[in-house]
Amino acid sequence: MKKPQYYFLGERNTADLDFSNLGFDYIACPYRFEAVFQHGLWRSRGLVEDNTMHIPEGSQCLHYGQQLFEGMKVFRGGDDTIYAFRPRDNSRRLNEGARYIRGPEVPEELFIRGIEEVVAANHPYVPPHGSGASLYLRPFYVGIGDNVGVKPATDYVFRIFVAPVGPYYKGGFGPDQGKSFMVSRYDRAAPSGTGHIKAGGNYAASFHPGSEAKSAGFVDAIYLDPAEHKFIEEVGAANFLAFKGDALLTPDSPSILRSITRQSLLEIAAEIFKWPTEERKISVDELDDFSAAACCGTAAVITWIESIVDADRKWEFPFDERWQKLYDVLVGIQTGAKDDPFGWRYEISV
Ligand code: PLP
Ligand code: COI
Repeated sequence: MKKPQYYFLGERNTADLDFSNLGFDYIACPYRFEAVFQHGLWRSRGLVEDNTMHIPEGSQCLHYGQQLFEGMKVFRGGDDTIYAFRPRDNSRRLNEGARYIRGPEVPEELFIRGIEEVVAANHPYVPPHGSGASLYLRPFYVGIGDNVGVKPATDYVFRIFVAPVGPYYKGGFGPDQGKSFMVSRYDRAAPSGTGHIKAGGNYAASFHPGSEAKSAGFVDAIYLDPAEHKFIEEVGAANFLAFKGDALLTPDSPSILRSITRQSLLEIAAEIFKWPTEERKISVDELDDFSAAACCGTAAVITWIESIVDADRKWEFPFDERWQKLYDVLVGIQTGAKDDPFGWRYEISV
């Protein structure tokens, strides 16, 4: 990596943080990227230092939840090259949400430019290669304005902040890191509602069931399909995966968030390992037939599910080496340690 001169002075190229022992916590980094939509036009405000936003009290995001967010990670390769992972897929998903909540799309070019600028400006906070940590990017989008009526905003802010993070679920991934989850009787989304987009309201709706599961000693809640409560839907803020015989299975449902990590793992399984994959409804009763279970997401990466409890039923799943294989390829691609046959890495110059 050429030595970046612009934002930081002196010899140090790395922030003085204990990168190998980070949790999934907000750490205020120096810069955030911001753009504003007004009078039908997006304009970039570029990099800003203030981590506080000043928005009108009537803003739709505050009252009616007209809001979206994304989660992505940036990694440092062994040669100090910095990579984002599939950023265009996050841009696409944000815009799917924008169409649904009736706001303007964020042009892909603006989204990518924002990522490039905010990562370059905060480059000493991209964790060192091999630390196990990454730089988490949180692009988000809010409808703002002087408003009280129930209607979409005319003005919007698109902003990206960053924070170096470690594992989302304490302990992270590994054969000694099994996690227990509880099937919830509550729903995070409606059958034909907003579950498929990354709208903040879905997450507010998960606080009660999530807290209930955590108070009972579980890592998080597992959600069932909101229409019948028969099929597995999501695992906290992650998608569900299981092995049935040779096949890697994952739920299909209109109300789940279509995980980019899951899509990547399905492609790795099919293309690299030649394992059969199936995206279909998975009933709770079918847990009896699975030899292994896990969940996946940007934050969760792959998390081994060691047990699932549903009222008086309990399923236990041993660690399966196939999770390790998937993990090694995924993280290898993300961190530049392995070839990227799918073209998922997006190099960011600093
Ligand atoms: N499901 C939900 C509800 C999520 O919030 C997330 C996180 O983004 C995921 C699944 C995983 O999606 P991705 O792999 O795109 O991060
Ligand atoms: C992610 O995996 O990026 C998420 O958004 C999950 C959670 C932190 C909300």
